[in-house]
Amino acid sequence: MPEAFEAPAGAGLTAGHYEDMVQKAQQDPETFWLDQARKLDWHVPPQQASRSDFHHDVRVDWFSDGRLNVSENCLDRHVRTQPDKIALIWQGQDEDNKDSLTYRDLHARVCRLANVLRRLGVKKGDCVAIHLPMVVEGVVAMLACARIGAIHVVLFGGFSAEGLAERLSDSGAVVVLTADVARRGDKRIPSKVTMDEAIEFCGAESRVRTVLVVSVTGADVPMQQGRDLFYTDEVAQEVPDCLPESMNAQDPLFLLYTSGSTGRPKGLVHGSGGYLVWAAFTHAIVFDHKPDDIFWCTADTSWITGHTYVVYGPLANGGTIMVYEGLPSWPAPGRWWDVIDQYGVTVFYSSPTVVRGVMREGNEVVRSRSLASLRVIGTVGEPIGPEAWQWFYKEVGKSRCPVADTWWQTETGGIMITAAANLVTPRPGSACLPLPGVEAALLETQGHTVVEGAGEGLLCMAGSWPGQALSIWKDHDRYRQTYFTTCPGYYFTGDGARREADGYYWITGRVDDVVNVSGHRIGTAEIEDAVALDPQVAESAAVGVPHDLKGQALVVFAVPKKAGVFHPDAINRAVEVGVGRYAVPEKIYVVRDLPKTRSGKIVRRLLRKIASHDLEGLGDLSTLADPDIVAELIAQVKEQN
Ligand code: PRX
Repeated sequence: MPEAFEAPAGAGLTAGHYEDMVQKAQQDPETFWLDQARKLDWHVPPQQASRSDFHHDVRVDWFSDGRLNVSENCLDRHVRTQPDKIALIWQGQDEDNKDSLTYRDLHARVCRLANVLRRLGVKKGDCVAIHLPMVVEGVVAMLACARIGAIHVVLFGGFSAEGLAERLSDSGAVVVLTADVARRGDKRIPSKVTMDEAIEFCGAESRVRTVLVVSVTGADVPMQQGRDLFYTDEVAQEVPDCLPESMNAQDPLFLLYTSGSTGRPKGLVHGSGGYLVWAAFTHAIVFDHKPDDIFWCTADTSWITGHTYVVYGPLANGGTIMVYEGLPSWPAPGRWWDVIDQYGVTVFYSSPTVVRGVMREGNEVVRSRSLASLRVIGTVGEPIGPEAWQWFYKEVGKSRCPVADTWWQTETGGIMITAAANLVTPRPGSACLPLPGVEAALLETQGHTVVEGAGEGLLCMAGSWPGQALSIWKDHDRYRQTYFTTCPGYYFTGDGARREADGYYWITGRVDDVVNVSGHRIGTAEIEDAVALDPQVAESAAVGVPHDLKGQALVVFAVPKKAGVFHPDAINRAVEVGVGRYAVPEKIYVVRDLPKTRSGKIVRRLLRKIASHDLEGLGDLSTLADPDIVAELIAQVKEQN
């Protein structure tokens, strides 16, 4: 029988308790994590915490003798104790468009959709793609999948049809939820039409049997008979109760595609039990969760942040989530501050890109709002430099709210390194300290020697934690090779970091070919593959350069097949088609050749320096196949700016 719900781990902790937790998690992780796991409702409570192993074939294994249902943990147990508490506040980008759902309401909506999915033949272990903007149905759809043991695959609205097709084919999704049209400020995004194209792209590889269309704007959309159904018609036919599927803790809850340095995006697999323990635990302690919090994580649900901190963490802890459909400054600067004031948001978790953007609007915008309800503020996705940190702290947090800069990744499932609010003293610009149970380590660049004490190196994890991704969908060997071979015996994050003598971490950025544009993780290989589709291009290289607003920007160096007339616009188009609008490069340089080693490897380090006009310390050029190319590239970049 499920055990009674206890207060979340973080509520009312003191710094002393926190120290104790860190110690306990280190000395006796089995007991520590089983204690955390007991805060959830289990059909069969686990007797063992981790059986993970970073050697050999690599195994990530948490609570694997336990059984539970994630949606039951996010809904039913709160319906029992606090049915009328508001679970979800939704505000559309138009002021009059709003909704508010109690735990009872949300439970009912989830159950109706879960019943629809079952009726459509979705079985435990099937994949369901969710391609929706920030509307209530997006959250409902995730929880409905969890209820029946279907694996959700949330897809970003900015992906092109090809980008969507790739993910639909790889996951083998059998049902898709999409919108008629999505709103983005004044723009309208044709979600349904793009999804139709995507399914067509998949051709024989498509396993999509049904497309459920959510009418977001009520626009007319083409409906394919026998395949497409309207969401509202279907849920209306179902009852608001649905027996949850009992899942093993290791059964996949969702796949989420993310970019790496090589190859196509990979579908990271997150499990049910470990992931939920991590989501609930980190949400509670990092944000010092209180029962009457109104928790607003501004991330889109198509990113891991949206999964863990819009949906699973706060709902597992019985909190109230704020879901806002629109952009920070539409229709006018200060829109998000108004949302905070209107709803009394207490915790605001956003990104450095947003902070830098609103900072540019000037202090008057933020000072003309109260923001008195805020208690804790945080950011994620990219480094927040000390300047933006200070501004966020002073102007948004009014010098009274702790700032949690949170470092983590799609792969980690939840926050790993941060200054947990009211527990750890933050340092502006530093990601601060690993959470209890996080065995962060630095390894020197060869990946074999551990850096002790103060120093710099590759950021790794020496042991597993409950939120760790279990695998890459249908390709465990790629999982092992991507994350566990650079530093054998360790999970390698792809980031570099510096550590101070007292253990504070400073993230120095990716050490691989991944670029972080406004918190969007983009693999340069994906961009180059898309550019290669432009018939004018012989070869290209994409690199990331520092950018004031976006953190990093993408720059492409393209070598045309024929000298003479060349249309860089076609490259933008190729990226838009192959990847999505969000990945269109900031700048394209047309060049004669790329700097390469004698064995033909492109020297991206040089391209990064040249593109960012950082011409100091270019290093030894004599090992290049054509050392003269460097001066030529510098001149060409200057000329084309
Ligand atoms: O380079 C790190 C950067 O974002 C990467 C992870 O991206 P993604 O999987 O898309 O997840 C983003 C949201 C969890 C990391 O490898 N990153 C994330 N948070 C920070 C960060 N870099 C510096 N500081 C952060 N707080």
